[in-house]
Amino acid sequence: MSKHILVAVAWPYANAEIHVGNITGSYLPADIFARYQRLKGNQVLMVSGSDAHGTPITVKSDAEGVGPEVVYHRYHAGFIELFQKLGLQYDLFTSTHTENHFKVSQAMFTALKQRGYLYTEEQQQWYSASLGKFLPDRYVEGTCYICGFDSARGDQCDNCGNVLDSTQLINPRAKEDGSTPELRNTTHYFLDLGKMESQVVSFLEERKSYWRPNVVNRSLGWIRSEGLRGRPITRDLDWGIPVPEAGWDDKRLYVWFEAVIGYLSAAIEWAALSGQPEAWHRWWTDPAARAYYFIGKDNIDFHAIMWPAELIGVADEFARTFEGAEGKPLTLPYDVPANEFLNMENRKISGSRNWGVWGLDFLSRYDADPLRYYLTVNMPETSDANWDWDDFVRRNNNELVATWGNLANRVLSFAAKHWDGHVPNPSLRAVGAQHAAPNAFLRPQDRELLASVEAGFDSVGQLLESVKLRAALGEAMRLAAEVNRYLDEQAPWTQVKTDKDAAAITIYTALRAIDNLKLLLAPFLPHSAEALHSMLGYHAPLFGEQYTEGITDSLGEHQALRYRAAAIPGRWRPSALEGGRQLRQPGPLYKKLEPEIAEQERARLAGGAA
Ligand code: MF3
Ligand code: ZN
Repeated sequence: MSKHILVAVAWPYANAEIHVGNITGSYLPADIFARYQRLKGNQVLMVSGSDAHGTPITVKSDAEGVGPEVVYHRYHAGFIELFQKLGLQYDLFTSTHTENHFKVSQAMFTALKQRGYLYTEEQQQWYSASLGKFLPDRYVEGTCYICGFDSARGDQCDNCGNVLDSTQLINPRAKEDGSTPELRNTTHYFLDLGKMESQVVSFLEERKSYWRPNVVNRSLGWIRSEGLRGRPITRDLDWGIPVPEAGWDDKRLYVWFEAVIGYLSAAIEWAALSGQPEAWHRWWTDPAARAYYFIGKDNIDFHAIMWPAELIGVADEFARTFEGAEGKPLTLPYDVPANEFLNMENRKISGSRNWGVWGLDFLSRYDADPLRYYLTVNMPETSDANWDWDDFVRRNNNELVATWGNLANRVLSFAAKHWDGHVPNPSLRAVGAQHAAPNAFLRPQDRELLASVEAGFDSVGQLLESVKLRAALGEAMRLAAEVNRYLDEQAPWTQVKTDKDAAAITIYTALRAIDNLKLLLAPFLPHSAEALHSMLGYHAPLFGEQYTEGITDSLGEHQALRYRAAAIPGRWRPSALEGGRQLRQPGPLYKKLEPEIAEQERARLAGGAA
C-alpha cells in the first residue's frame, strides 16, 4: 500500500553560499531518502525553501548597504541553481518571503493564541537613542561578562563560545554607530512551552526507540535539566512577518517561530500550485502520513521541541481556522534524523575564513554524482566527519570508478561488441526453449549471484528506510564488488573464444545484476543511474524532472524549484531484463581524477593562505 511521506528539509538562510557540510548535513540525505521512497511507489512530498528573514539576513544586507530583499533574492537564486545541478528533487523549494507563508504563519500564531498557548511579557532590550530603535542581540557588542573578551556579540561570545544574555554585556555599544545603548522595556509574545512540557516529553518518549540517540538524548536531556520555559516569538525588527495584532506594527514574528512553519506553508503552496488546494491534507492531517525532518544538529532544539510544541499547541485549530473546514490535528514529526557536522581537512568549515568547499564552485570543476558519493560514504550520521581531498580522489577512483563505473562499462561494451548491441538471449539456444521455465538456462553460479544482488532490495531498502544512508550505500557497493568477483571467475573475455553460449549466459547474468545495482544505487547516484538506465535500453526515465517557475504574489516575485513526477512510479524491485533487448551506445559513467588535484584543491582553501 502506498504511503504518504513528507520529506521536510532544513531551510537555508538566504545570507550565505551553501557548502559541502550543509549539503551532507540535510539536503542530500533528504533527496536520497525521497528518491528511495518514490522508487518504492510511495507518495512523497519534499518541501523546503529559503529562510529569508531575521537578523542573519539584515546583518548581511546592512554590511553591504543594500536592502534585505536584495540579499535574499541573490542567495535564493544561487540555492535553486545549486539544487538543480545536484539533482535535489524538491516538489517545491520556495521561500519564507511569500504571501502564502505570511498567511499561514499568522494563522498559526492566531490559532496558538486562541488555544491559550501565547502570553505577553515585558522584557529588557538595548535601545539606541541615536538610531531611534531597539537593537537585536546581534546588533550590540560589548565585553563578555564570562571571559572578558571585549568584542562579544550580544547573542554569543566568539572567544569563549558561550551563548550570552545580551542585557548583561559590559560596556555595550551599537554595532551600527558605536553609540551607547540603554536598557528599555519592550513587550513581546511568548510561546508557553511550560504548559506543553508533558506533551512534548510524551512525544519524544514515544519515538525514543527508533530515533538517533544523539537527537533524542539531547532533547530529553535539555528538558530534564532546565525544564521548558516560555520563549519570546516576536522581535523588535522591521524585516519579517508582521504580528497579526493591532498596535504591533514595529515588531515581527521571530524568524525561528515562522521558518519551521514553512514545512506546512510550503505543502499548502505546493497544493495550490498543483491545482488541488486540498491536497496538502494528505501529508498534514492524515494520521497515517509520516513526516521526516532532515536537519543539521544545530537545529535539533527547534525541530524536536519547538516545532512539535507549535503543532501540539494548535492541535485541530489550524486546520479549522485556515481551511474553514473540519479541523484535524497536524501531523507531528515521525523522525528527525539530524546529522552532525562535516569538517574540512580537519578544521571547522568557516565562511568568513573561506575554509570550505562551496557547492557551485565544486560543480564548476566536478560532477554531481562523485560529490554525492563522497558525501554519503562520509556522511556525519552518528559523529562529526571529515572531508579530505586525498580521500575524495581515492574513493572516486577506487570505488566509484573501479568497482562500479568500470563494471557497468566493461559489460555493456562487451555486449555491444559480441552481441551486436543486444542483451544476449541464451534462452533461444536452450533445449526446448519455448516450453522451458523463464531463465531455465541459468547455471547455479548465475542464480546465486542474482539471488544475492536481488536480496539488496531488502537489505539496502531496510537501511534506507531507517535512514542509515551510509550503511545502505556500503551494502549496495558490496554487491557491486560481488558482481566483479563473479566476472573474474567466469572470465567471459576468454569464455567467448571457446564457448560463446557460456559467455552469453555470463553476460546476460552480469547485465541483469547491473540493472539491479543501477536501482539500488539510484537514490545516491541519480545522474549516472539515469544514464545507465538509458544505455540498458529503457525509454521512460527512472525519475521525474525538475524545473523552475516564477511566482508573483502581493510581496513581489519569487522563483521556485519544482518537480514533475516520473511516468512510472514504484520501481524498487528486481530487474526482469529480457534477453534480446536492444542496448544503447555505452559510455563511461564517471571520470578518473588525477591525484594532483588534491594538492591543488587544498591550495584553494583560505585562498591559498593556509
Ligand atoms: N535557516 C536555518 C539554518 O540555516 C535553518 C532553518 S530550518 C527551518 O540554520 F525549518 F527552521 F527553517
Ligand atoms: Zn566570552
